[in-house]
Amino acid sequence: MHIDILTLFPEMFPGPFQTGIFQRAVDRKLVSLSIHNIRDYTHDRHATADDYPYGGGAGMVMKPEPIFEAVEAIKSGMPEAGEAGPPPVILLSPQGRLFSQSIANELSKHGHLILICGHYEGVDERVGQHLATDEISIGDYVLSGGELAAMVVVDAMARLIPGVLGSPISPLDDSHVSGLLEYPQYTRPPEYRGWSVPEVLLSGNHAQINRWRRQQAILRTSQRRPELLAAANLSPEESQLVKTFINDKTTNHVPRAM
Ligand code: ADE
Repeated sequence: MHIDILTLFPEMFPGPFQTGIFQRAVDRKLVSLSIHNIRDYTHDRHATADDYPYGGGAGMVMKPEPIFEAVEAIKSGMPEAGEAGPPPVILLSPQGRLFSQSIANELSKHGHLILICGHYEGVDERVGQHLATDEISIGDYVLSGGELAAMVVVDAMARLIPGVLGSPISPLDDSHVSGLLEYPQYTRPPEYRGWSVPEVLLSGNHAQINRWRRQQAILRTSQRRPELLAAANLSPEESQLVKTFINDKTTNHVPRAM
């Protein structure tokens, strides 16, 4: 997959993409990343990328011309899109559709993505209307720019590209993939400061371990994010289990170190 990111702050990149799983994916030629400075597509001496909002009001608005020209230059430099069609052009903005694991999964299937990082008070509406094919928000809060949002989207998406993670089954248990939060994980030592690893995990009985993990995922989701359960495809027995959890005060708390 090739990813193009358009930004007014190219110095923020490659940042997190220079380490860990992403860097390994780049080394293995599964992913490539190009960062484009939107100012390189301006034509005046001052490289003006923003201007006052029509109608007045605080702040500046990003001009449409350099953004359109940057996207057009990227598209004209790539081979014919072929069967896959043109790449999605994603505007990061607090007004977009809310990012989720299923959107990450959907994006990971493309061969090419173009991301536009907004800034200032916003981006001229014509970018969202006539250039972007998608608009994504990473949450109901306002960042000072779309760069961190682009990093979040690319990070969550890239690890789902086949081959990027070592084992093809490892993303399957992630929180949110099954609609549930992930079960608790432990490693050695088996006892630490008097806190023991649950016996079942040491048993070597994989059927029992899988049953325990599924129950823990359901318990944890019902404690922390009960609104997720409605879409989580629980069996009738599991739905019954949730009712038991809710009625049982001893399981009905979120463990937290104080
Ligand atoms: N730009 C500013 N805030 C944002 C958000 N919450 N998501 C995506 N892009 C943004």
